[in-house]
Amino acid sequence: MKLPYAEPYKIKMIEPIFSSSRSEREQWIKKARYNLFNLKSRQVFIDLLTDSGTGAMSQEQWSAIMSGDESYAGSRSFDQMQETITSLTGFPYVLPTHQGRAAENVLFSVLVKEGDVIPGNAHFDTTKGHIEFRKASAFDCTIDAAGDTTRYHPFKGNIDIGKLENIYQVFGKHRIPMIIVTITCNSTGGQPVSMQNLREIRAFADRYGIPVIFDAARFAENAYFIKTREKGYEDHTIREIVREMFALADGMTMSSKKDGIVNMGGFIALRNKAIYQESTTFNIMFEGYITYGGMSGRDMAALAQGLEEATTFEYLESRIRQVQYLGQQLHDKGIPVQEPFGGHAIFVDANRFLPHVPRAEYIAQTLALELYIESGVRAVEIGTLLADRDPETRENRYPRLEMVRLTIPRRVYTSNHMDYVAAALQNIYLRRETITSGYRIRYEAPIMRHFTVELEKISRR
Ligand code: F0G
Repeated sequence: MKLPYAEPYKIKMIEPIFSSSRSEREQWIKKARYNLFNLKSRQVFIDLLTDSGTGAMSQEQWSAIMSGDESYAGSRSFDQMQETITSLTGFPYVLPTHQGRAAENVLFSVLVKEGDVIPGNAHFDTTKGHIEFRKASAFDCTIDAAGDTTRYHPFKGNIDIGKLENIYQVFGKHRIPMIIVTITCNSTGGQPVSMQNLREIRAFADRYGIPVIFDAARFAENAYFIKTREKGYEDHTIREIVREMFALADGMTMSSKKDGIVNMGGFIALRNKAIYQESTTFNIMFEGYITYGGMSGRDMAALAQGLEEATTFEYLESRIRQVQYLGQQLHDKGIPVQEPFGGHAIFVDANRFLPHVPRAEYIAQTLALELYIESGVRAVEIGTLLADRDPETRENRYPRLEMVRLTIPRRVYTSNHMDYVAAALQNIYLRRETITSGYRIRYEAPIMRHFTVELEKISRR
């Protein structure tokens, strides 16, 4: 008999989590104004809000924490981090930041100006926020297949080069300061971008002299998918693939809270010295001196180690197989999910799950709230609340996909936890016909409203 798959680690330290009753959860979520971000962690049993900063560090990372160098300038831990990043990516210039959006803030302060247009594959919300904050626009050029959860495509993060061409024809080189490629593409379901597509993007960029920047939060997971899905890469190591991917970019912003497997941190890495030099000024203003930029020495040391671990096939295999284990269970129960399964999360298609809830009543949020009340599992809405309003018309922007993201932290939960989540969703699925109304907004912030929005339940008979 072929031996089953098992995690390549065992657990040395545990953290208790807390179960609760349905009536407790009903009260808590009402008090939280039906915003899952407002819940206390004590009120959550399994937390699938995000895989960002929620991973478990290894014994080697904790050891690195003890030997972190806290020098203000010229820290040894910075050197370790920089050497690791440069050897993985080939980018010689590295600036630490306190997290991914800070890297965006610093780099975009150099590259983006009012009226600019930045094409990419479904930019993440902070990326789009930093673009729109500068009165520039983000254009989504993802392939159409990404918007159809029933259709198989191995690389639903890919960019449609025809769409890039159209944008270039309308706006021209001077209004396009860069193309941002998010690897993997969070907003379409943790979907990867193929090496072939990265090459095509590079060729397009070279043709018109436009820089390519990777939003690389989950670059290692992207490399895993290239190895396991793209012809010709089966025998390449993850590190070889990573190196080849980054050779096709001019720079990157990174949220180290994902594939760095640390709880806080980020960085910018660049090939171009002039852009680096301009960025250092903003880094010093917004983040900190260039050899710590918002990170403590110990965190940079843990990140150097985390990046080494995240780029091994053994780690990625266990990580992504756990996500797929959950996805497969949901699929087998008939629950509509984005397929193929993504790298860091399973995305439930709320439009198909709850067809009776009107679009204006926040379908995906309604499902995420049902899941919490049913089970204490906290997921996150990736739908109309997140898509926010059009900055000009102030109308809701309805995205093609209304998703509930079940985001799996790295090395944190077991298969039993996954079974629990699948059972909870199945219970709701069996009574989905009875869910016919959603929520209305009582308060929202002018930008990135989903974090602080307050909702009210609509009851209709
Ligand atoms: N880019 C991508 C693709 C992301 O997924 C995130 C964060 C960021 C940039 C910003 O990084 O949080 O370190 O400032 N994503 C988290 C999530 C928040 O839950 O998907 P950050």
